[in-house]
Amino acid sequence: MAKQTKTFSCTKCAATFPKWSGRCDNCGEWNTIQEDKGISAGPPSKSLGARRGSSLELMDLATEEAPPPRTLSGLNELDRVLGGGLVPASAILVGGDPGIGKSTLLLQAAAAFANNGLKVVYISGEEASAQVRMRAQRLGLADASVKLGAETNLRDILTTLDKERPQLAIIDSIQTMWADNVESAPGSVSQVRAASHELTSFAKRTGTSIVLVGHVTKEGQIAGPRVVEHMVDTVLYFEGERGHPFRILRSVKNRFGPADEIGVFEMTGRGLSEVLNPSALFLSERGQPSAGSVVFAGIEGTRPVLVEIQALVAPSPHSQARRTVVGWDGGRLAMILAVLEARCGIPFAGLDVYLNVAGGMKISEPAADLAVASALLSAREDTALPAETVVFGELSLSGALRPATQTENRLKEAQKLGFTSAIAPKGGKAVGVEGITLRSMTDLTAFVGEIFGAG
Ligand code: TYD
Ligand code: MG
Repeated sequence: MAKQTKTFSCTKCAATFPKWSGRCDNCGEWNTIQEDKGISAGPPSKSLGARRGSSLELMDLATEEAPPPRTLSGLNELDRVLGGGLVPASAILVGGDPGIGKSTLLLQAAAAFANNGLKVVYISGEEASAQVRMRAQRLGLADASVKLGAETNLRDILTTLDKERPQLAIIDSIQTMWADNVESAPGSVSQVRAASHELTSFAKRTGTSIVLVGHVTKEGQIAGPRVVEHMVDTVLYFEGERGHPFRILRSVKNRFGPADEIGVFEMTGRGLSEVLNPSALFLSERGQPSAGSVVFAGIEGTRPVLVEIQALVAPSPHSQARRTVVGWDGGRLAMILAVLEARCGIPFAGLDVYLNVAGGMKISEPAADLAVASALLSAREDTALPAETVVFGELSLSGALRPATQTENRLKEAQKLGFTSAIAPKGGKAVGVEGITLRSMTDLTAFVGEIFGAG
């Protein structure tokens, strides 16, 4: 028998090492390295049986049958994020903070797919079947023909799935799954990796689509779904702020569709309802135009979304001024502040800066730069931007404005929601949209001069 070589991995970042050490070389965390109890250490299981490899000429693929069609759930927000429905034999990871609504979303999705003719199995490792049924009742889904199971033993689950051969199996959650041939505790990196590997190979082998639910926690003890991200075809994140009812399902990786697509939902007393016009929703709480508030015309995936960006700038009582950001990147804010100071001579030293993206939305698009700069200036100068105006454009370190992609879609969305003017970088494909006065500029100094009458 070959000598068993040990491997170790970090429970925080999942980096693997040949030796144990007190500190992870990759993420720098202490006491997170654990020995991997590999699958090969345990008794062989049925599903782990030897499968002979076979080679295939590239051209042979063309003669294979066309892939079965995608299935729509009828929940538009979900179908779009999946890239146009569920692909057979695909493995999907849905990650998110505990309590954000993953189980609710997937129970609703399970019912929706079942109503559209799929054979669906929902396996919960966190709740008893009765609890899942109660939740389904509350969601008005009690009649859906979804088979429920409460199980955490991976071998039992695979046996059940093998017998049932559903078209869709939902595993809630991957952290509760336990492979009996791996010695470590459920939720450890080795367990999560083993369970995900088994389930994704099952999907590929049998054509069942598998959805894995994964909790993301900050503690190192529970493996986040990061380890699993490489194994699956599609990674979706379910995001939102606890106090806000809005939830965003975002594709961060998708082998079968565009990444960065979002679906917007609202958590209600009867589960999640789809938000078909997110711009209206994100702007619904906006009052009269006020200093520090700017509407950004963004693009999320394939869809334009208008969001309000709010800034507050106040003299700092502290020796070190505060920079607080919600919904945007802190590093990017520091960059915008530096550009405003260096290129336009507008200092923020000694001022506390708070930046917030309204509605619990998270923005990662660089085209938000100009909207953020506008909000900061507007707050600092205590001057509201012209009413009914949207702003977008990327800012370079030189203070030049770079044209954004999909200008026309942004303008059309703004027009649909009753906006009448837009501030955007000059250049790119010149487009006009009826009803929108476009004010285009080449650099930040021109913008400051024109909008705030100062330099
Ligand atoms: P859940 O789906 O259990 O979250 P996760 O699986 O991500 O841990 O959702 C839990 C929260 O959702 C809980 O705080 C209550 C809320 N909720 C509603 O507001 N309405 C509902 O109809 C349901 C089922 C849950
Ligand atoms: Mg849950």
